Amino acid sequence: MKIIHISAECYPIAKVGGLADVVGALPKYQNNTGTTSRVVMPFYNNKFSKEHKFKTVHEGNLELGTDFLSFKILIPENSDLGFELFLVDIPNLLFKDYVYSEKDTERFLAFQIAALDWILQNKQLPEIVHCHDHHTGLIPFMMSHAIKYKKLKNIPSVFTIHNAQYQGWFSHDKIELIPAFPLSHIGLLDWDNCINPLATAIKCAWRVTTVSPSYMEELKLKANGLESLINSESQKCIGILNGIDTKVWNPGDDDLIVAKYGTDDCDAGKQASKEWLCKKFNLDFKKPLFVFIGRLVEEKGADLFPELFDLALKRLDISILLLGSGNKEVEKQLMQLTNKYPKNYNAFIGYDEALSHKMYAGADFLLMPSRVEPCGLNQMYSLRYGTIPIVNKIGGLKDTVVDISDGGFGFLHTENTVKGIFDSIKRATKYYSDSSKFKETRKTIMQIDHSWDESAQQYVTLYKSLIKQT
Ligand code: ADP
Ligand code: GLC
Repeated sequence: MKIIHISAECYPIAKVGGLADVVGALPKYQNNTGTTSRVVMPFYNNKFSKEHKFKTVHEGNLELGTDFLSFKILIPENSDLGFELFLVDIPNLLFKDYVYSEKDTERFLAFQIAALDWILQNKQLPEIVHCHDHHTGLIPFMMSHAIKYKKLKNIPSVFTIHNAQYQGWFSHDKIELIPAFPLSHIGLLDWDNCINPLATAIKCAWRVTTVSPSYMEELKLKANGLESLINSESQKCIGILNGIDTKVWNPGDDDLIVAKYGTDDCDAGKQASKEWLCKKFNLDFKKPLFVFIGRLVEEKGADLFPELFDLALKRLDISILLLGSGNKEVEKQLMQLTNKYPKNYNAFIGYDEALSHKMYAGADFLLMPSRVEPCGLNQMYSLRYGTIPIVNKIGGLKDTVVDISDGGFGFLHTENTVKGIFDSIKRATKYYSDSSKFKETRKTIMQIDHSWDESAQQYVTLYKSLIKQT
């Protein structure tokens, strides 16, 4: 089975968040089941493009409204990704040192057109086109309705919603940027008087998936304006829980952490990592260490952190370490707190992949009080590294964490307020003081299997059912 994944991000080539981790792992695991899964993504001006050599496999010219843009399809000369990678190089538009910007309509439309132009001229067409998030949301529409892509009409498209908060809206004034299609289909592009690529994908893809079953259900009630659409299309929607790449996220073989460890020597391994973190960030090693890793946005509950951390550090004998960036005001307040609690709090504002691994390994607890969490990967990474998650009971968090009071291994709260999260931290601090129970739980959670094997297979089963319909 020949599958093409199309995405704006893919680890380790370009990563902003969990989308990259998924697109960097799912095709690899699918290939283990005998499929040929490839990835098509933009060619960015980043570390990966600087450190590799590339071969041009196709050159073309695409039409974006009245503009003609030349593009190339590149493949890396030496890479061991576990899937074939095709990079769309559009020099003045996509080749930037960032993934996303304010002017993404033109950038990602050009990307989608170039990807389809290239697919169209391939001798062998894919059997499935799997698109991820709104940056690729017009592909199912173009495959079904754009006149120039008529040959792709019968190829099933699958669209995965990683996050319905972002929809890629743009004005009807830009409609001429989309390759010509019969005007009778114009309604498929519209949602609330805007062109809405996410809504269009939900309408046009053959199947729509979300990254956890609970998030699928939540979208029917709350989907940033798309609730009625999700409900009316629910027949073709399904939630498939993300997995994690257990080769990249493996404390037993992780070169980014200070001491590798497995379940047998997890106490020693975690202690070495915690010592390293505490030394580096000037924290007291003896206190339980709570960490947060992620984007400092409302979705992740970040606006609650300044007040929450202040309260928790004042009342409880704990340390907190944060890694992330986002809202500037929140960043400022979080940095100010370092003066108030110099010995048991610190924050690193920025993005640091290596530090994130060290934090998953060295922390005692991971905080994840997200308001919206379609799946969430951090809690699964933290489980694998023996770090107990504290989460809001929603979306993928609800599907992956079971509360200790229900015979599980984490802390869940339903009231995602400063008080609600504080109560969870208090419960966790008490749990930490029972050292043997705490250590036992760490060992148990390291063994939970969240690898992609099962979910990758679920996607393959879904693809097969679609191919049968053609
Ligand atoms: P989202 O994609 O919504 O941000 P996920 O939980 O799916 O959330 O995935 C986040 C991914 O990004 C994880 O791999 C996490 O470790 C990583 N990450 C987030 N912020 C940072 C950061 N500041 N530094 C390093 N890694 C980060
Ligand atoms: C999005 C979601 C996150 C999910 C990730 C990968 O970024 O916010 O919850 O884990 O995509 O699917």
